[in-house]
Amino acid sequence: MRHVPTVFFLLSTFLLAVSVESPPPPLFPDEALPTKSGYLPVKHAPGSSMFYTFYEAQRPTTTTLADTPLLVWLQGGPGCSSMIGNFYELGPWRVVSQATELERNPGAWNRLFGLLFVDNPIGVGFSIAASKQDIPRNQRQVAEHLYEALVEFTEQNPGFEHRPVYFTGESYAGKYVPAIGYYILKEKPNGKVNLKGLAIGNGLTDPVIQIRTHAVNVYYSGLVNAKQREELEKAQETSVALVKAQKWREAADARTELLKLVANMTGLATLYNTARSIPYRTDLVVELMNQRETKQVLGVSETVRFEECSDEVEEVLREDVMKSVKFMVEYALGRTKVLLYQGMLDLRDGVVSTEEWMKTMNWSGIGMFSTAERLVWKDGDGDIAGYVQRWGNLTHVVVSGAGHFVPTDKAVNSRDMIEGWVLGQGLFGGGNEKQTFSSSFTESLRVRLDSQT
Ligand SMILES: *[C@@H]1O[C@H](CO)[C@@H](O)[C@H](O)[C@H]1NC(C)=O
Ligand SMILES: *[C@@H]1O[C@H](CO)[C@@H](O)[C@H](O)[C@H]1NC(C)=O
Ligand SMILES: *[C@@H]1O[C@H](CO)[C@@H](O)[C@H](O)[C@H]1NC(C)=O
Repeated sequence: MRHVPTVFFLLSTFLLAVSVESPPPPLFPDEALPTKSGYLPVKHAPGSSMFYTFYEAQRPTTTTLADTPLLVWLQGGPGCSSMIGNFYELGPWRVVSQATELERNPGAWNRLFGLLFVDNPIGVGFSIAASKQDIPRNQRQVAEHLYEALVEFTEQNPGFEHRPVYFTGESYAGKYVPAIGYYILKEKPNGKVNLKGLAIGNGLTDPVIQIRTHAVNVYYSGLVNAKQREELEKAQETSVALVKAQKWREAADARTELLKLVANMTGLATLYNTARSIPYRTDLVVELMNQRETKQVLGVSETVRFEECSDEVEEVLREDVMKSVKFMVEYALGRTKVLLYQGMLDLRDGVVSTEEWMKTMNWSGIGMFSTAERLVWKDGDGDIAGYVQRWGNLTHVVVSGAGHFVPTDKAVNSRDMIEGWVLGQGLFGGGNEKQTFSSSFTESLRVRLDSQT
């Protein structure tokens, strides 16, 4: 029996070796991998490039991919990474409660369309800015860089040059989306990007009009009293006065102070969603992006440290924050379709904040739009999903039960909305004929797709 301890020792060493060497399950299941990811050089800024992840349509709407719509997603900030959109909002796989566990998104926006996430502008997320001087200081430069990156993307993917392109994004992308649309429509109408529409979620587009809605909005929501409302009105006007004096940085700082005041008075966990008891878990994406495996899978150098938002980019664009791009939306409406949607629970760039600047638009259709019927949108279960108003090229959608991150809060409804709008069907974008009161298009589509599986 003298050999027993030796045998036991050998056996346990063997078992230990096995358990150490068997690799942990991969963070990214094969199905969660992007179709492509990498860098798109920006010629205007030599040495700089934009990082992207691309997911091809799961069930393309057309027989050839060359005709399948392509959605481009831009995150806000200024300075925040589109990987938040990819892995926390609308991408096919997301982190929900744990950074090391990707879950399938039931409302992924790439069901019918290609989906391209771009870390925009350079210096954001995994994108590379050759120097601080190269980071865009205004929307015109943002658009120029982004356009170059997209041309590069089409050139790298033969057959993509005719795909209908829809720019989408949220928050500060309320500047970027109009800017790239305006640039293409005005300066590159026959260029390599086949622009078909612009969609903005909870956007900042006309800051002066928008910040003037904070006081009344929280007052009529019962979140502050009359005295606090007056205090907020004063804080709003401080920022507006600085805009009038063209002290852009100071005006942006005053807006930050105003939002801090709202946060302090209401005591809410986050102004992005009044119903949340904790802030949105974007920290999970930061943790996921900094895993070695993630960087390997996405083709990013392991030495790069991922940050949710770049302070440097935010600092450079501070000058731009309070400037309006409403005229770009007006210009676009005469030439392409525009979707403005907001989650109803957002206190930063919500419904009232958007309606106030929309109604001041210098666009020939605004009168007809204003008197168009606001329709009740119901989901597949017959529950209220939101409200839709539309005339001509303009569609406005209010999403119930959602805050600033609409796809995070209402995944399937947000997908139904974007699909209906892009395809120009159902409540979100058919002709101006008498509209139905339920989302029957998306319901029939769902039935059709389900029967395919
Ligand atoms: C609001 O600010 C005051 C004064 O600085 C502070 O005492 C209070 O705790 C703050 N309230 C919240 C909810 O942050
Ligand atoms: C709406 O956009 C189309 C292009 O999609 C354009 O031809 C039309 O003139 C626009 N309509 C209005 C009223 O501006
Ligand atoms: C409205 O836009 C038109 C061009 O589309 C322009 O000629 C006119 O001056 C604008 N009006 C205002 C009040 O900005």
